[in-house]
Amino acid sequence: MTAEPVGARSRTGYDAETLAALVADAEEIKGRYPDPRSGLLPLLHLVQSVEGYVSRDGIVFCAEQLGLTAAEVSAVATFYTQYKRHPNGEYTVGVCTNTLCAVMGGDAIFDRLSQHLDVGHDETTPDGSVTLERVECNAACDYAPVVMVNWEFFDNQTPESATELADRLRSGEQVTPTRGADSVCSFKQMSRVLAGFDDGRADEGAGAGGPTLEGLRIARERGWTAPGGEQAGAPGTPRVEVTPETGTGQSSAERKPTTPSDDTGPAGQADAKEGDDD
Ligand code: FES
Repeated sequence: MTAEPVGARSRTGYDAETLAALVADAEEIKGRYPDPRSGLLPLLHLVQSVEGYVSRDGIVFCAEQLGLTAAEVSAVATFYTQYKRHPNGEYTVGVCTNTLCAVMGGDAIFDRLSQHLDVGHDETTPDGSVTLERVECNAACDYAPVVMVNWEFFDNQTPESATELADRLRSGEQVTPTRGADSVCSFKQMSRVLAGFDDGRADEGAGAGGPTLEGLRIARERGWTAPGGEQAGAPGTPRVEVTPETGTGQSSAERKPTTPSDDTGPAGQADAKEGDDD
């Protein structure tokens, strides 16, 4: 008897090669969990990495893989804003307009970008390069206002630096995030990483910078400790102190400024101030 091709019973419209690759990746994802249906979220990222959004085929594929109904998969895919139900641009430019970023200039950045690109929230430029979004807090409030490009950080932005960033993306230039990975990958590539497939960039670039570590620095300077901190750890286990440093490996202080507002010198601060008044 001839073996049935992988995915031969699939009701999706994927071609044989795409389907075979998806099935192999789905097997790996399902194998990570005691209950395979726990893999729905990474599976949705996986199908998004193929077409740049969660299509009807993507919904059907996830349902077939996990023994769910299409309605159950759709209910999850429409709940989370990271899953797109229409084709996304090459780069999602997400402007944080949550409370702190908003008052620090996030709303002004979004409005300027919206006007400059002539698109609104969750809309894509006609060339397919940029999808503009309002995003919620990215736990980077100490660098407010923050713009994310495919979930990479661009800190301390201004309307001017953000429009320059968008223009560079649209012209195909490589841009360098302020922290984290050294470059920005495409939306499809990023979706594959979110599905749990390592692209080798996780340890790139700068980590925590001065503003993030400032509270810790002050606490140590003044000898403050958290309640119960002295007793932390197993009895008899010495506490391991790791002193954070800036200006060395894994510190954003070592990275050259990528926008005028990254420059903490007088010129950069003047640019940032000008942007804040916009
Ligand atoms: S409010 Fe923007 S990162 Fe927290």
